[in-house]
Amino acid sequence: MIRTLRALPALALLGLAGGLLGASPALAEGDAEAGKQSYQTFCFACHGATGKGDGPAGAALNPKPRDFSTGDFKYDADGDGKPGTDADLALILKNGAAKYGGSAVMTAWSPPLTDAQVADVIAFIRTLKK
Ligand code: HEC
Repeated sequence: MIRTLRALPALALLGLAGGLLGASPALAEGDAEAGKQSYQTFCFACHGATGKGDGPAGAALNPKPRDFSTGDFKYDADGDGKPGTDADLALILKNGAAKYGGSAVMTAWSPPLTDAQVADVIAFIRTLKK
């Protein structure tokens, strides 16, 4: 009983955080296994099989395709001060990198990818971090 009471303020805080998060568009949790297929179809040529930015079409590019094995990202597409969040990557995949000051070679990929497939491919990219 006492434990339950102690937990209440924490629960209230969680509820508050949930409410704040709810204010921004909800991002579906991606399925990395499904995302792998989209990656191999649309991203592999530049970003490479292991995500190092060394795909057959990526090696000669300047700037280089992002190296996903480091887990570092550059653009803060939603302007919240934190680059590389799922929301940032989703915006870049929706609008292309040029809109956020990046290379026009990294074009928009949605369409052809649906919002759900964007979430899946982001989940897959996260698995490439070594
Ligand atoms: C034609 C080559 C090419 C293809 C295909 C490509 N990219 Fe890129 N991508 C790039 C380049 C080049 C950059 C670096 C852009 C820059 O630094 O301005 C980049 C950057 C990125 C970034 C980094 C954004 C950041 O904030 O650092 C992500 C994420 C990304 N690509 C995801 C993808 C995904 C997912 C696909 C497949 C749906 C894909 N790319 C297909 C060339 C490509």
